[in-house]
Amino acid sequence: MTSHIILTGDRTTGPLHLGHFVGSLQNRLAFQDKHTQFLMLADAQALTDTDHDVVHRNVLEVALDYLAVGLDPAKNTIFIQSQVPELSELTYYFMNLVTVARLERNPTVKEEIRQKNFQRDIPAGFLAYPVSQAADITAFKATAVPVGADQAPMIEQTNEIVRRFNTQAGKDILLETRAIIPQTGRLPGPDGKAKMSKSQGNALHLSASPDEITQFVKSMYTDSKHLKINDPGQVSGNAVFTFLDAFEPDISFVDDLKAKYRKGGLADSVIKQHLEVRLQELIEPIRNRRLELAKDPAHVMQILKAGTARARTVAATTLAEVKSALELDYFS
Ligand code: TRP
Repeated sequence: MTSHIILTGDRTTGPLHLGHFVGSLQNRLAFQDKHTQFLMLADAQALTDTDHDVVHRNVLEVALDYLAVGLDPAKNTIFIQSQVPELSELTYYFMNLVTVARLERNPTVKEEIRQKNFQRDIPAGFLAYPVSQAADITAFKATAVPVGADQAPMIEQTNEIVRRFNTQAGKDILLETRAIIPQTGRLPGPDGKAKMSKSQGNALHLSASPDEITQFVKSMYTDSKHLKINDPGQVSGNAVFTFLDAFEPDISFVDDLKAKYRKGGLADSVIKQHLEVRLQELIEPIRNRRLELAKDPAHVMQILKAGTARARTVAATTLAEVKSALELDYFS
């Protein structure tokens, strides 16, 4: 990949979990050395469906998660969405470039409306959050967005807005972008079926204690027909193997385990033991760094303040170009 500008972020509705790690954090970690990366704490977007006190509290939590996994503030611009008013202003103008019908067809929004049981009582801000997401991405002229698979429709909608705006402007002011989605697909919860998510209550947080990790692995679904060790076992749909695929770097080792398990003679406790070691190893340093960082929240807020100031400068430049294209530059 040539050098990209990257904009990505997370709604601050709760701390991050293993699903985020596999879905986007790993890609962001890989990108921070080669690209210009903006990481946004999407507190304003979180307000479209979450109480403000929860959103406020989780700005620091998600920031701690970013720093604890190793996203380096010297390499990334980490900032708070609501503190960049240029994004709201861009959203306002972009709102005229989409129809309500198109927003209602957005598969992610549609699914969330169903899950939250909004029926017709959808907050307008919630329905329109893909538009604010288009503003987030285009404000930074981002050409790549590392996100989980569920966010792909947001990128599609962003590109539609970009094309419509550029056509109206008569020149290519905004840039089209692409989603960078991991090949592995979304991580399930311990039952191996439902996706891991905060709302499902099946998530293992990146700050999980050793005991929480043990309990999580214990609770994992394997194969209900694998009753005796010598019975042949199913690998597909087996949550432990899905997790081993995601977290065990030695692929041939996992292949061997799978072969033995299929044949019969490999106990669930053995594969769970392997997985538990991997997860403990992964989370321990994250948890420790997080505990250390959490001792000095003022330092974390200072990082966010500096990042937000940088982000504002970039977003302001794009906003000025957009307003000028819309002939909203009366005094310049
Ligand atoms: N929608 C994302 C989430 O639910 C957060 C987000 C807001 C985002 N704006 C973005 C992600 C721009 C990528 C790019 O977590």
